[in-house]
Amino acid sequence: MPELTINGRAQSVDATDDTPLLWVIREQLQMTGTKFGCGKGFCGACTVHVDGVAVRSCSTPVGEVAGKKITTIEGLHPRGEHALQKAWIAEQVPQCGYCQSGQIMQAATLLASNPNPSRDEIVAHMDGNLCRCMTYPRIVKAIQRAAADLRASNETAGARRG
Ligand code: FES
Ligand code: FES
Repeated sequence: MPELTINGRAQSVDATDDTPLLWVIREQLQMTGTKFGCGKGFCGACTVHVDGVAVRSCSTPVGEVAGKKITTIEGLHPRGEHALQKAWIAEQVPQCGYCQSGQIMQAATLLASNPNPSRDEIVAHMDGNLCRCMTYPRIVKAIQRAAADLRASNETAGARRG
């Protein structure tokens, strides 16, 4: 039984090593924020973080991620108040909503490494996350807003430390 550390909690799961991580997250652990779209690594609806890297959980066997740090949308922020989550609300990004947790998880890895991405960098980073409702322009705006908010709060924190 692989032992997984998901959202800071270590737990043994009843699955063979080749079981897709997405199945374990949704079916066994009942964390349904991560979505099943294509099941083949093409759409990004199932995106989670493994050691800070965005991965497609539908095509990631649990045996490969045992002992690593897995984060789902439920663990991105303890109160659902990550700058991206707030920006998503402010920009009213979702339409049907199905792809959006994957979009946010993908975007979070961009802002973790690049606090001031250009529009082109955002588009390139988000390229593999599909949205059938075509919310792409609002996704870009929300990422720009979240990046600006994060920079402003970092500046404020820096000034306080002063
Ligand atoms: S469900 Fe995993 S990439 Fe589409
Ligand atoms: S909001 Fe409907 S698929 Fe993206």
